[in-house]
Amino acid sequence: MTPSVSKTDAKIAAAARCLENGELVAFPTETVYGLGADAENPQAVAKIYAAKGRPADHPVIVHVADEADLSYWAADIPAQAHQLTQAFWPGPLTLILKRAPSIPDAVSGGQHTIGLRCPSHPIAQSLLRAFKNGKGGVAAPSANRFGHVSPTTAQHVLDEFGHGPDSPLAMVLDGGQSEVGIESTILDLSRMDTHGPVLLRPGRITPEQIRDVIGTMPALPDAAAPRASGTLESHYAPSAPVVLVAKKDLASILEKLDQAGRKVALLCHTALDGGLPANFSVMLPGDAQGYAHDLYAALREADTVGADVILVEATPDASDWQGVNDRLKRAAHGSENVLASLLA
Ligand code: TXA
Ligand code: MG
Repeated sequence: MTPSVSKTDAKIAAAARCLENGELVAFPTETVYGLGADAENPQAVAKIYAAKGRPADHPVIVHVADEADLSYWAADIPAQAHQLTQAFWPGPLTLILKRAPSIPDAVSGGQHTIGLRCPSHPIAQSLLRAFKNGKGGVAAPSANRFGHVSPTTAQHVLDEFGHGPDSPLAMVLDGGQSEVGIESTILDLSRMDTHGPVLLRPGRITPEQIRDVIGTMPALPDAAAPRASGTLESHYAPSAPVVLVAKKDLASILEKLDQAGRKVALLCHTALDGGLPANFSVMLPGDAQGYAHDLYAALREADTVGADVILVEATPDASDWQGVNDRLKRAAHGSENVLASLLA
């Protein structure tokens, strides 16, 4: 179907009706745009997997309204979950909890857990309140094809799924550019008695902020941690190879690539002596939150210029950069030998 793109109140109500009818609606959140379906309608959830080209055993996050009753969705909810929702919801934190037996396992890829998140974007909030009178859940992964960079604007969503009658989306709600820019922090609380809290994906909300609320620092994922596709080594990747380069090596690598006749797109965040000697370059903000806000749009843009390689100036190894560093590492996965072959 040809998706309509909109942001008015009437369109939010129409989008809620589309979801209730089992259709797909893309909507803005403060992190990235989501590709939504009724979480309790397995056929609708199956449409998400088909549209994304995502394996059916990968769980999706269920988005709920601010007033939602956690115990409708989850079982054996630990006290820490309530402390964290009080502190950070609505906002960019996803909690993995034990799934309530009545909730279809289609949303959790057959796992016994459920990922729950209450987004703060006003359009997402309005949509969740209008959908099933605020009592429903909207299953929504990021609104991109499997393995691609997540969308942070409505236009990115249209670029992913097309504008025409072949689009799998009924509607795209336009909420401007996502404020956070990278996906939510994911915290596993489904195995508190054996493993304690486990950080599955870093994001804007840091492990230190979580520790300050629940008194325990989240652990890094272990081999038995619930699977998360956003935690695959290669993910969030543009089609041009991405290579991270320390600032001290950038000038010489750029010069060598230039001599070898290679086309380079460059993403940096500090001033370089001699300007930005690349075919295409973006200067990103020097602080972690500003950088995250602009990162995916910059990767998408860099991917359109036909560069042989996207060089990214390495970012600081600091706690508030964890989310950004995680996404950059995944985007660069598999590109270890690219420079050697471009310079050969
Ligand atoms: O910021 C976000 O989280 C965005 C917006 C749209 O809310 N959503 C998002 O969804 O990033 P997605 O599907 O692209 O990534 C969600 C991650 C996946 O890695 C998925 O495997 C994991 O969450 N996940 C969801 N439910 C899970 C569960 N029950 N157990 C383990 N991991 C789960
Ligand atoms: Mg995703």
